[in-house]
Order: sequence, then C-alpha cells, then structure tokens
Amino acid sequence: MGARYPLVFLILLLLHGTKAAPDPPVPGWLTLSGRRPVVVARGGFSGLLPESGQLAYNFAMHSSVCDVVLFCDLQLSSDGVGFCHSSLRLDNSSDIAQSFPNRGSTYQVNGQDVQGWFSLDFKSKELHDIVLSQNILSRPNTFDKEQQLLSLDNVVQSVLAQQGEVHAIWVNIEYNSFFMEHGLSSEGYIVGLPKEFPVTHVSSPEFAFLKGLSGKVRSNIKLIFRFLREDLVEPTTKRTYGELLKDLKSIKAFASGILVPKQFIWPQNKDMYLEPSTSLVKDAHALGLEVYASGFANDDPCMSYNYSYDPSAEILQYIDNSEFSVDGVLTDNPPTASAALVCMAHTKGNPFLFPPVKAGPPPGEGENSTRPLIITHNGASGVFSDSTDLAYQQAVKDGADIIDCWVRMSKDGVAFCLGSTDLNSSTTAATTFLGKMTTVNEIQNKSGIFSFDLLWSEIQTLKPNLIGPFADARLERNPAAKNAGKFVTLPEFLDFAKASNITGILMGIEHATYLITRGLDVVDAVSKALVKSGYDKETCKQRVLVQSEDAQVLTAFKSFPKFQRVLTIEFDIRDASKPSVEEILQFANAVKLRRSSAARVNGFFLEGFTDSLVNRLHAGGLQVYVGVLRNEFMNLAFDYWADPLVEVATDTLSVGADGLVTEFPATAAAFFRSPCSTGQVYMGYTISPAEPGGLLMLAVNGSVPPAPPPAPVLEPQDILQQQLPVCPNEPMFRTFRCRLAQEKATGKPEYNINLASLDG
Ligand SMILES: *[C@@H]1O[C@H](CO)[C@@H](O)[C@H](O)[C@H]1NC(C)=O
Ligand SMILES: *[C@@H]1O[C@H](CO)[C@@H](O)[C@H](O)[C@H]1NC(C)=O
Ligand SMILES: *[C@@H]1O[C@H](CO)[C@@H](O)[C@H](O)[C@H]1NC(C)=O
Ligand SMILES: *[C@@H]1O[C@H](CO)[C@@H](O)[C@H](O)[C@H]1NC(C)=O
Ligand SMILES: *[C@@H]1O[C@H](CO)[C@@H](O)[C@H](O)[C@H]1NC(C)=O
Ligand SMILES: *[C@@H]1O[C@H](CO)[C@@H](O)[C@H](O)[C@H]1NC(C)=O
Ligand SMILES: *[C@@H]1O[C@H](CO)[C@@H](O)[C@H](O)[C@H]1NC(C)=O
Repeated sequence: MGARYPLVFLILLLLHGTKAAPDPPVPGWLTLSGRRPVVVARGGFSGLLPESGQLAYNFAMHSSVCDVVLFCDLQLSSDGVGFCHSSLRLDNSSDIAQSFPNRGSTYQVNGQDVQGWFSLDFKSKELHDIVLSQNILSRPNTFDKEQQLLSLDNVVQSVLAQQGEVHAIWVNIEYNSFFMEHGLSSEGYIVGLPKEFPVTHVSSPEFAFLKGLSGKVRSNIKLIFRFLREDLVEPTTKRTYGELLKDLKSIKAFASGILVPKQFIWPQNKDMYLEPSTSLVKDAHALGLEVYASGFANDDPCMSYNYSYDPSAEILQYIDNSEFSVDGVLTDNPPTASAALVCMAHTKGNPFLFPPVKAGPPPGEGENSTRPLIITHNGASGVFSDSTDLAYQQAVKDGADIIDCWVRMSKDGVAFCLGSTDLNSSTTAATTFLGKMTTVNEIQNKSGIFSFDLLWSEIQTLKPNLIGPFADARLERNPAAKNAGKFVTLPEFLDFAKASNITGILMGIEHATYLITRGLDVVDAVSKALVKSGYDKETCKQRVLVQSEDAQVLTAFKSFPKFQRVLTIEFDIRDASKPSVEEILQFANAVKLRRSSAARVNGFFLEGFTDSLVNRLHAGGLQVYVGVLRNEFMNLAFDYWADPLVEVATDTLSVGADGLVTEFPATAAAFFRSPCSTGQVYMGYTISPAEPGGLLMLAVNGSVPPAPPPAPVLEPQDILQQQLPVCPNEPMFRTFRCRLAQEKATGKPEYNINLASLDG
C-alpha cells in the first residue's frame, strides 16, 4: 500500500531521515528511569489519518522521534487473528456495516448491551478487506476508502520494513473477558507472538488477565495496567478503578507501569481549568512503577483553557514541570508530542535564539541571523479580551516584541485601543446601548454600535467581552476572564509600553476618512500622542510601526522618519506586479499579508506557497508581516497537523516572514526559544515546516473540492487611496497632521514649539 505514495514518503524521509551528530547534553528527566519519556502513537498518527491504518502508522514513524511506540488496540477475529482497531465496534470507523449489512450483533460487554459489528463474528480473511474511515469530525475524511484494517502482523511488517530505526509496538487488550466468553484467548495470542515481533508493552484494564501474563511473556515486554474511569468496576477484582488507584502496590506485584487518563495526574475542574496535580506520578515512581498518560489529541475539545489551545503546552505540563515527568504519553498526534519532548522541553527560561529582525534589508552574508518579530493582534487577545490592560500585560509577559493598539475615537475625541470600532464585537455594548445600533456602510455592512457615537464616559461603563472567533464551534477563550480587564486610552497604552521591556509598538489606523466626516481626526490624535510621549525621538529606543490599509494615512506619517509604515493588504493576492511594489515603496516600508496570501489554501489544505510574492516584496526592500495567527485547531490547515507551532515554523522557515501577527504571542515566543527554531535537526528531531500540496496528493480522488480560482495579482489601483481633507491655509485651523506636513515641506520644526498646546 505504501508504494502508492512514494513522493510523500520521500518528502517525509528527507525531512526526518537526517540525524544530527552527537546529542548535546540535556537536563535530567524526572521520569522513573531518568531517560526521555516515550511517545506512544495511538493507532499511528490518528489525529490526521484513519486510525490504525497503514498511512497512519507510516506517518507516525516518519513524523515522530525515532523511538516512537506504535499503539495497537487488539481485536480478535473468529479464527484468532489479532487486528488493530481502537473501538470494539468495527462499524465505528470502517465500511463493515455497508459490506456486511446483516452481520451486526448485540453482545453484553462488561455488563452492558453493545450493538454493532464485532471482529469475533468475522474470519480474518473477511476483515482484511474492511476499509477504514475517519469518525472524528475535526479530522479530514479525505483519506477514507483507501486504508484497510490491519492485522498486528501487517503492522509489524511495515515497522520492520523501516531500516535502522528502533521502532516498537504496544499492544492493548481492552476486552479480554469479552473475547474469553466467546472462546478466544488473548493470552494465548500474546504468549504465542513470534519472538521477532518488536512488542515492547502489553497493557490491559483487566487485572487478572495482566497478572496471568506475568512470567509468560518475554522479560523485555513491559506489562502495563490500564486505568479506566475511577467509578467503573474492574471486571476481575470487582473493585473500582478508583479503589485500585489507592492500591498501586498490588499492581506493582506483576506490572511495570500504569496507563492512566491524563486527568488522573492534572485534574480539570468542571469549567475546564487545571487544578493542582495529584501525587500519582510520584507515588507510582516511589513504588518503581512507570506512569503513562493517555488522552492527548491536538483537537481535544475538552483541552484545559490553561493551555490556550497550544497542544504542546499540554504535553509539557506532564513532562516538564519541576515536580515530576510521566514516562510516556499516549497521543493521537505523535509529532506534537515529539516536538514537545525534543524541541520544547526545558527551554522555558531560555533567551530567544536570535534577535528580532530590524527595519531595513535582511541580514547579509556573515551578519547575525534574526527571527521574525512577534507582533500581537489586540494584545494577547487569545488569553484576555481584545486590547484590555490585561491583554497587553499578558503580551509583554509572554514575550511579544511589538504590542499593537488599533486606535478608535469616541464621540468626544478620546483616542483608545480596541480591535474594532464596532463595540458590539468585543464589549458588552449590546446590553446597554442597543439604541445606538446603526449601519455605516463605509465601515461594515452589518449594523453595529460604533465608538464614534458614544462618549468616552459611556464607553468606560462597558465591560470587555471575550468571545473569540471560534466560540460557535465551542472553542471559547478563557471564559473565566470573559469580562475581565479595562479599556485603555492611547496615552495609557503608550505609558505602559514605554515602561515595559518590549521592542516596540504598532499603531493601527482605520476609517480615517470617514472619521473626518464625523469631525474626528484619528491621524492627528495618533501623531499628537506619539510626539507627546516622545516616541518620535531617536533617543526612544522602542520602534514605532504605523499600520493602515490607506496609502494616504501612511503618507501622513512620512514626516516621522523613525516610524515604519506598514500597508495592510486585507485581501488575498498571489503576487504583486512590479508597478504595485514601486507604488507601495512611495509610502510604506512593510506590508502585512493575510495568511492565505502567504500560502494558498483549498478548504483545509495548503496548496502551495506564494514564493514569488514574498520574494518580490523583499526584493523591493519591503518587510513582510503575516497574520493573524491563532492557536485553535479550527484555524489551522490540516497540513499544520493541528499544531500552531508548525504554522509558526512554516511562516518563519519557509515563508520567510519578517513578523508574525498573532493573538497568542506565547506560542511564537516558545518556538523562538527552542533549539529547533533554526530548522536544524536537534537530537534526531525538528519541527518541520508544512509541505503544501503533500496531503492533497494523498487525498482520494473526488474528496477534495476543486481548487478555487487563483487570487489576483496586486496592481497599483488595488491600493486604497482615500483623500484625507486638504490642510487649511490658516495656521490656527491647521491640525497637528497639517503642521507636520508643513514642517516637512519647509524643514521648519513647527510642532515642537507647540507641544504645550497638545493637551487639547
Ligand atoms: C467511536 O470512536 C470514537 C473515537 O475513537 C470514540 O470516541 C467513540 O466513543 C466510539 N464510539 C463507539 C460507539 O465505540
Ligand atoms: C489554570 O488557570 C487558572 C485560571 O487562570 C489558575 O487559577 C490555575 O492556577 C491554573 N492551573 C495551573 C495548574 O496552572
Ligand atoms: C553577532 O552576535 C554576537 C553574539 O551574540 C555579538 O557579539 C555580535 O556583536 C553580533 N554581531 C552583529 C554584527 O550584530
Ligand atoms: C519582559 O519582561 C517580562 C516580565 O515583565 C518577562 O516575562 C519577559 O520575558 C521579558 N521579555 C523579554 C524579551 O525580555
Ligand atoms: C451583537 O453582539 C451580540 C452578542 O455577541 C450578537 O448576538 C449580535 O448578533 C451582535 N449584533 C450584530 C448586529 O452583530
Ligand atoms: C458591503 O457589501 C457590498 C455588496 O455586497 C460590498 O461590495 C462591500 O464591499 C461591502 N462593504 C464592506 C465594508 O464590507
Ligand atoms: C485521480 O484521478 C486522476 C485523473 O482521473 C488520475 O490521474 C490520478 O491517478 C487519480 N489519483 C488517485 C490517487 O487515484
């Protein structure tokens, strides 16, 4: 089967086949053995591919640390052959019900009636033809219909075919009693396994069964007792798993370790926040028992909010805390666990490996390498509500380089920070100011409650309202802090930024021309505030970025030579014409692209990079920022493997972005602290950038929608040029903005003289 996809395996081999020379020393692990924990791949790379199929197992081996353990949930056929499938019910994720419509049955399993299609009703010959499918909605069904159910022998063959790698197989016998009742012996099967099978672990939630195996299997096979939910009754001792948990000694008598749901170690309260850890790992280690934690998946809808949707943060909680480390993790996403173990563990306190890029051309030969800037989007808005004091504090704590303020105006001319001028999107405005709901087509087509219709004193009565873009999919952000924090005025933002250790600030400006019609001059307000706080001075070490989609707005800031001017290109483009680059250079020194302009997407798949676009912009001397990056797996193309670190790696190493605009600065910062952020293989592993087109190539014909029409090439006329009103001749009516322009024309510093009048 593997031979059908030679190209992808070649790519994977190129990515992962190289080995670094000697491994550098690493801090000790708090595992039982003191060695690195192991990655156990449940059904292979089941987070991406139909579980326990050939592709899933092959991908797991090629995309993980080389000692990855492949997990096989064993189901026996009527003639006693073991097959790998996670669910006792084969119809759960295969076409068996369609192939054998009349062969379903109902059985008593651990005291409960279960209806479905069971392996023991079929001969192994029949099972070999069963075709697997994906039954988890957040995962692609694009690879269905081509992966067959595999026997353990099949899996072993494909493992042994991997030359020179130390692969291992973990066999789990979930339902020994059930198979026994129907005359099939799991024990006989396990004991009879050929010696050359690389089985390293055998687990079961059945006490007596596992105990019976001890002494009968090879001594280098670890017997692992699997815990199920604490209230469930273990069928052979009739004690609950909760009771057995308090009697680890009895397990130690025959087992080398235990496999427990992850919540047994880091419990979660009903609101999905983590509670302090239990003493389970330490207790088990004290008895000499290894501890493996299960239940890791990048798209786990119940992942604790403490991890901010960063699945490697979750793995690190188990392997890199100051108290203990589990000995292995059972996961559906083995590359993420591998990255956590090799690239991310023990890097928390590290400095960034490289300094951030400077404004100007990229470093040349012999110059020190740099990394992209971490630019926030409304502060750390993945953790706290959009542009609140808390979101900005979190951003600084999380290692952002640049914090951003999208400047909004109240009716009475107070400039403040908020992601949208429509207060309905991230405040509680709808509860009190529904009467102010209007439609302003110059701004958006849906109606809203606009900041320029409310006094600042009214806006201050509102509360932030953290919703997040994926709340409809039940992926809420930090609900405990939903209404926490307060809005900050532009001067407050600047004072905070100046007192912090960040590299710089970004001023976002939108709707400047419309605001003039409301008697509000946002360009003026921003210029004044920056001058007043001294941000225009060369002596101020922090950088200033001004971002707008309007060329005229950026032109107005040319009077400040220190500021970098960033053009927002808020629509997808696949390239930029030469004249358009020349046009942009007239008023900007950087552009901010959408993610889908950096890498073309088709549905949830990446089709390819727009290399020529980024190269052309770079060649023109423009820096390229890409965003907005968000951690939620719903936001990630399948090629990123539901792992936000892979997108960061891709934008850094493949796209060549000079800045990453993100709502989760901690995730980008963690990557830049990792030895893998250079793209080099480190201790046999690295976080590889996505390979656009790779998964599409594997897709079953007809399962992917046709490629969308290509995005346009940027032309000069696509660049927004809204006229800001002309400046009056009378000096006394001149706005600050106009005085700046005057100064530039005459070389006479007009604004410096009038600093005292800036309070108005
Ligand atoms: C089907 O499989 C999914 C994923 O493995 C699992 O969550 C679910 O409980 C299974 N359903 C049944 C009926 O076995
Ligand atoms: C998880 O987050 C909550 C709320 O922020 C916090 O109180 C708790 O201490 C965190 N738990 C852990 C284990 O970090
Ligand atoms: C390059 O990095 C080294 C070590 O951090 C530093 O000493 C040196 O000054 C840097 N050189 C340049 C040109 O920035
Ligand atoms: C800036 O200071 C915060 C603490 O206020 C710290 O957590 C963060 O790591 C620092 N950032 C840098 C880049 O030094
Ligand atoms: C305003 O916000 C509320 C709450 O988020 C939402 O239900 C409503 O649809 C929004 N109204 C508009 C016009 O967007
Ligand atoms: C409003 O809708 C019109 C027509 O659908 C569209 O052309 C225009 O771009 C929309 N405006 C905004 C601000 O979204
Ligand atoms: C998909 O269809 C095309 C054209 O019909 C064919 O050339 C290609 O080999 C098919 N791919 C697969 C994986 O079946």
